[in-house]
Amino acid sequence: MLNAHSKTALITGASFGIGLELARVFAREGYNLVLVARSGDKLRLLASELEKAHGTRSLILAVDLTDPGAPAYVLDQTTRAGIQVDVLVNNAGFGQYGLFAENDLEDCLRQIQLNVTTLTHLTRLYLPEMIERAKTEPKSGGILNVASTAGFQPGPLMAVYFATKAYVLHFSEALANELDGLGVSVTCLCPGATATEFHKRANATGMNLLKFGAMDARTVAEDGYRALMAGKPVVISGFKNWLLAQSVRFSPRRLVTAIARKTQEAGSR
Ligand SMILES: NC(=O)c1ccc[n+]([C@@H]2O[C@H](COP(=O)([O-])OP(=O)(O)OC[C@H]3O[C@@H](n4cnc5c(N)ncnc54)[C@H](OP(=O)(O)O)[C@@H]3O)[C@@H](O)[C@H]2O)c1
Repeated sequence: MLNAHSKTALITGASFGIGLELARVFAREGYNLVLVARSGDKLRLLASELEKAHGTRSLILAVDLTDPGAPAYVLDQTTRAGIQVDVLVNNAGFGQYGLFAENDLEDCLRQIQLNVTTLTHLTRLYLPEMIERAKTEPKSGGILNVASTAGFQPGPLMAVYFATKAYVLHFSEALANELDGLGVSVTCLCPGATATEFHKRANATGMNLLKFGAMDARTVAEDGYRALMAGKPVVISGFKNWLLAQSVRFSPRRLVTAIARKTQEAGSR
């Protein structure tokens, strides 16, 4: 178990959805916060809510994490503020719906930058300190990476997004293995469809998958927090999502990809 008292969690994408709920959960558990996203106004509102509710102290960093210089800026700001980041939550991410050949190239590359490169970069920047600290204070640090059930199979119509989440899943599992015994845990949270801004922003509100319902962001956040504290390498939020993720293991890949396409298609087409 991680020791939550007077520690700091840095959460990317804390202005909406799962990241916002993760911030509420970490604050309730006694963490101070570094809140990162572009929407500074939303982060300020959240910080004031959490200060009133739990006495949480928050550093707000309104930054576009698709900027290649953003991870170094974030590290610089936490260092200048004298903040030791005990838990890094790499949650910020977005998807892009449509045929790869027709999608906007800049958006596609920004998606890889945010979902893959920034996540990797922040992890590499904060991890050495966590490993060093764990030598005297075992289980004091951890990393929670938000992937998706999309990481378990290819996803036509969101080809790049699914591939970025496969990266996050495999990267996190490999890292958890490398860090085994060093006192720093890595957990990969894999939500299925969740009611947030995500599908609206991805222009994917019509897809068949959403007809099966979506989980609420708070439940997903609680699952992620619990798994991190328990030192689990992977957690799939929701039994139905767990079952779906397992079902692809023994099925032919071409069939899995064809079924994924059906769930991604828009119902009205
Ligand atoms: N919702 C789902 O169905 C679902 C399912 C599986 C996995 N996930 C994953 O869960 C994570 C959170 O998504 P969500 O569902 O909570 O979506 P969301 O409601 O759209 O929230 C996304 C968060 O990421 C931040 N963000 C996006 N682009 C950013 C940028 N360029 N720089 C900094 N921050 C940025 C947003 O803040 P600003 O706009 O203020 O910058 C926002 O706080 C993502 O990694 C997503 O892939 C979501």
